[in-house]
Amino acid sequence: MRDIFEAIQRSSIRIKKAIDVKDIGYSQEQNSSGETQLQLDIQCDMIIEEEFSRVASIHTIASEEKEHAVELHDSGKYYIAYDPLDGSSLVDVNLSVGSIYGIYEKSFSGTHLVAACYVVFGPRVEMVFAHNKTKLHLLQGDHWEFVKEIRLNNKGKLNAPGGTQQHWAPYHKTLIDGLFQEGYRLRYSGGMVPDLHQILLKGGGLFSYPATADKPNGKLRLLFEVFPFAFIFEKSGGHAIDGVTRILERPVAHVHDTAPCFFGSEYEIERVRDVYTSNQ
Ligand code: F6P
Ligand code: MN
Repeated sequence: MRDIFEAIQRSSIRIKKAIDVKDIGYSQEQNSSGETQLQLDIQCDMIIEEEFSRVASIHTIASEEKEHAVELHDSGKYYIAYDPLDGSSLVDVNLSVGSIYGIYEKSFSGTHLVAACYVVFGPRVEMVFAHNKTKLHLLQGDHWEFVKEIRLNNKGKLNAPGGTQQHWAPYHKTLIDGLFQEGYRLRYSGGMVPDLHQILLKGGGLFSYPATADKPNGKLRLLFEVFPFAFIFEKSGGHAIDGVTRILERPVAHVHDTAPCFFGSEYEIERVRDVYTSNQ
């Protein structure tokens, strides 16, 4: 596991540099010297693949940027699913973005997840790695420093409601409005990594991305986005459900499967479970 942790650290330093210098402009295919430009998220995907291919314990990788999983080392035992640059459309408005990693043993399924990690590229670069505990690290120059362990309170103050309101179920709207009426404050940037990072570091709250009329299976992807954060929330004393069931128990049929998801501390997730159980 140590070698994977260090490969993520190396990748993140390279991704940070790519974000800092990259020309922005999705339609630009060539830079001023006529070289072909890669989209930033493709470039980040290549950086991670390159670093992971040096780690013998990694059997297979699956990336949000790749259609299919890729086998790296036949004798490895870890299967890693990653989103190289989540929220990459926020780079051109200079909001925080992040990478997400799920480290699975022997196969890609929620119950085989053994560690998870995300890296936030904001004003500072921070890495949260959960194995037995959830630990926060900060990039200082070219080295990483351990900062602290992350633990959620039983109840938070932040509410990050995803999905288009126009398409929310009425009971979902009642749930979200109810939290605001209790004093919860709105925090939603549109980047899953910074939005969940804020909830984790401020002690709790609710992040939701429900099933909606236009997206009946939600938007967020199980292997690269939902499972890794579910693991991190559980290891930090919080919970992650699909409305009714613990999300890590949801079966996965395809690499890019999505699911509705709710992450939060004890109190908020109980509220979600009550509402969703009685509306099934
Ligand atoms: O990867 C999908 C993503 O960009 C997440 O980072 C984010 O939480 C979500 O989409 C935002 O979706 P929406 O714009 O529908 O609220
Ligand atoms: Mn993403």
